[in-house]
Amino acid sequence: MSRLVMVSNRVTLPRNDGQAAGGLAVALEEALQQHQGLWFGWSGTVLDEGEPSLHEQRRGKVRYAVLDLPRDLFEAYYNGYANRSLWPLFHFRTDLVVYDRNFEAGYLAINRLFGERLAPLLNTDDLIWVHDYQLIPLGRYLRGLGCSQRMGFFLHIPFPSPSVLTTLPGHADLVQSLFAYDLIGVQTEADRRALREYVVHEIGGYCCDDEWLYAFGRSVRVEVFPVGIDVEDFAHLAGTITARDYERRLRSSLVGRELIVGVDRLDYSKGLPQRFAAFERLLERHPEHLGGVSFLQIAPSSREDVPEYNDIRNTLETLAGHINGRFADFDWAPIRYLNRALSRVALAGFYRCARIGLVTPLRDGMNLVAKEYIAAQDPDNPGVLVLSRFAGAAEQLDAALIVNPYDADAVAEAIHTGLQMRVHERRERWNTLMAALRDYDTRRWRESFVEILEASQESPLQEAEI
Ligand code: ADP
Ligand code: G6P
Repeated sequence: MSRLVMVSNRVTLPRNDGQAAGGLAVALEEALQQHQGLWFGWSGTVLDEGEPSLHEQRRGKVRYAVLDLPRDLFEAYYNGYANRSLWPLFHFRTDLVVYDRNFEAGYLAINRLFGERLAPLLNTDDLIWVHDYQLIPLGRYLRGLGCSQRMGFFLHIPFPSPSVLTTLPGHADLVQSLFAYDLIGVQTEADRRALREYVVHEIGGYCCDDEWLYAFGRSVRVEVFPVGIDVEDFAHLAGTITARDYERRLRSSLVGRELIVGVDRLDYSKGLPQRFAAFERLLERHPEHLGGVSFLQIAPSSREDVPEYNDIRNTLETLAGHINGRFADFDWAPIRYLNRALSRVALAGFYRCARIGLVTPLRDGMNLVAKEYIAAQDPDNPGVLVLSRFAGAAEQLDAALIVNPYDADAVAEAIHTGLQMRVHERRERWNTLMAALRDYDTRRWRESFVEILEASQESPLQEAEI
């Protein structure tokens, strides 16, 4: 079995207390344990002076190698190109894209640095798996350094439509970097279609059997791997004494009211102002819910050095104040807004307590909160998922109440429908949703990716035929 080398901007280092971090990080670490792997990425430290040094540690069969990054390049790479250019662009927010040549230069320099520091650690038959938009050019730099290993790339966020992508100066160069890999993984069919359309119509490349793309004198296989969760593990977590305790404490504070829950990083792609407006619309259109329902939104700050993230924070605080000011009574506030991260077990308890899971991003690669909400439900009395059609998860979870997050009236009506829904229909929908989650969980996601990467060889069409 080949060694697996995982590369991501953030690396989840083993915790001193031996506890797992949870979520996707655990799934990736499990894959590394099986493959005696190496996880390479940023150490989390930014240096004001001195040479960036590599730190190594080991847990079980996994080796971690993490790199400090110089401040000036990090600013341009992370707070610049990755999160002010690519993130808004790939989430279809051309209005928020800030393009700056220095950002791009910093992004390329950090990718080059990653390549230079990673290349000496590689063995000839390693499998290399690069994650996400921060590291698109890494494969190309590694190839330039003579690395001929099988290399795969997985994009965790959406792939934008060609008309959006072409607004980025240097878009063809960015896409050409993807062709340094042997395998590109995306979350949904829609993402694969968008990449194919770009390559065929913008670059004049070719597509064969849906999964092979030819352009820039290279071929690459493109597959859909929807990221999942560890369903049984999350369901188990929601049933533990600690989770039940969180659930009980929250329930007793509700004094018989129904709960709507939202859990997201504080990010403009999550559609939080639109969600608050839809909740306000519910109270306007259905005054019978006044005093009868509470909306708990948990949204810890994220990427705080990026100005657009502070704007969204201010907007939400104002909106929550406005809605509470308009509708609250002396013994009831419609919105409870928590601007901090909670433990996974607390989230599991809160999901289980909520009649409605409200997941309404304007765009999202997948959205794992939607899946966690389903897995945490009580099978006898499950809640209802209200899910944006623009979350990647909607391709699999069509038994949820699917909504257009821009349409406040429609979201308000879906919440109302969920609040009224009989237990028989809730169970039926929940069973269908659970079956979809079990069908493609994290294990299947990572094993399919690694298997296809391992088997990757010459494409069905030889380069000479193109
Ligand atoms: P994204 O990757 O864009 O943040 P996802 O929904 O795919 O969105 O994944 C978010 C992950 O972070 C989930 O596993 C979720 O449980 C976790 N998370 C989100 N909000 C919080 C919070 N307030 N406290 C703790 N964990 C959170
Ligand atoms: C999304 C991205 C990840 C990123 C995470 C947290 O899930 O797809 O690549 O790591 O958000 O964002 P941060 O900028 O804090 O790493």
